[in-house]
Amino acid sequence: MKPKHLQIKNHELYLNNYSLKEIAKTYGTPLYVFDEIELHEKMQEFTNNFISKKFQTNVVYASKAFLVPAIVEIVKNEGLYMDSVSIGDLYVAKMAGLPLKQVVFHGNNKENEELVFAVKNDVGLIVVDNIDELKRLKKIAEQENKQVNTLFRVNPGIDAHTHKYTKTALYESKFGESIYDEQTIDEIIKTYQNDKYVKLLGFHSHIGSQIKETKPFILNIEKMINFSRQIELKYNIQLPVLNIGGGFGIKYHEKDSDLFLPKLLKKMIKHIEKVSQDIGYNIEKVMIEPGRSIVGTAGITLYECGIVKHTYGKKNYLFINGGMTDNIRPALYQAKYEVDIVNKIEEKKEIIVDIAGKCCESGDIIAYDAPIPYPEKGDILVVYATGAYTHSMSSNYNNILKPAVIFVGNDIKCVATREKLEDLYKQFK
Ligand code: LLP
Repeated sequence: MKPKHLQIKNHELYLNNYSLKEIAKTYGTPLYVFDEIELHEKMQEFTNNFISKKFQTNVVYASKAFLVPAIVEIVKNEGLYMDSVSIGDLYVAKMAGLPLKQVVFHGNNKENEELVFAVKNDVGLIVVDNIDELKRLKKIAEQENKQVNTLFRVNPGIDAHTHKYTKTALYESKFGESIYDEQTIDEIIKTYQNDKYVKLLGFHSHIGSQIKETKPFILNIEKMINFSRQIELKYNIQLPVLNIGGGFGIKYHEKDSDLFLPKLLKKMIKHIEKVSQDIGYNIEKVMIEPGRSIVGTAGITLYECGIVKHTYGKKNYLFINGGMTDNIRPALYQAKYEVDIVNKIEEKKEIIVDIAGKCCESGDIIAYDAPIPYPEKGDILVVYATGAYTHSMSSNYNNILKPAVIFVGNDIKCVATREKLEDLYKQFK
């Protein structure tokens, strides 16, 4: 739940031997802070454990979880691929120096402009969502005279136990086409057949996010391998690539269970090897797309404490100088976080507060019923496990400025600067 290299020194919290209180003073708050060493270690955990002697593997970092050029750099150094969902994501990856051959391009409603950008820039794999997109892509590839490699996104119909907003493989999901919809699948395969420019290499599925059980991942593997092989036989084609998505859950709380990743990844590999061998599916490459599980626990957010308000209704609020604009997850998914006061880390927790942000919204609460030492104005509050889907989902509601992002490893780097009032006004000029 906490960054791996967090320490207590001089009665305060440190990250990789740097005082978080000092970091807050230097860079201001709110502040997203990442354990840079953990980012490397997490990527290595995937690349070291998701390997097979029978087929190639690719770990594709799902950049929707958190995207700044500095993480693209780490992705590049650690030999991962990256997933993108919009022309904006592609642009950031390109500007940050990632060869777009290493990019997997997703999206359920890709616009022509986005497809043209992807084709012109030789994006490695486009994951086609629907037949309309496939037809448009065929035209674009022909116009650009480019060979385009694709996967087609299918929905295997798996109900993973997670928040309803992060389930993606129910029958009614908006993503891809159902593996059970024979007519649509038939139309898709026939639209691909004999096309000179657009090639179908295999299928993609992603069953949801923050999944904490092993079973749905295993079921997904079985369904996808069986489906791919069935299509190979039916249409006499070869589908050498399989992408089974991301969704690996993380610990947000001390008492949460943990998905022990090395074990799960090895189990997945064994299962892929066995099922594909059993049914004679000659798989050449398998991809996974972890996002949250790479950046989630490595990231924390620092805020400055304001006053404590004791309401007539007997609720205590601690006001902080950020909130739903830098972390929408509690308001959107009822996400729960743990907090501490950085400079009072060894003090007794003697008050229970709701941590309230500064937006004009009653739902702007970062943590409910949090036990903390009595806070004073100027204390620095840390919220743990905020590395995924916070910065990437941040907004300017109430014209609140977006925080800076700091990587702390062997040194400290500011990898995204704090927004300024002039930045905010630029769009109106
Ligand atoms: N691949 C695809 C096609 C996806 O749609 C996603 C996440 C991932 C991979 C990465 O999933 P992860 O490993 O991070 O679970 N905003 C929500 C999560 C939305 C996930 C969207 N897709 C949240 O804050 O919980």
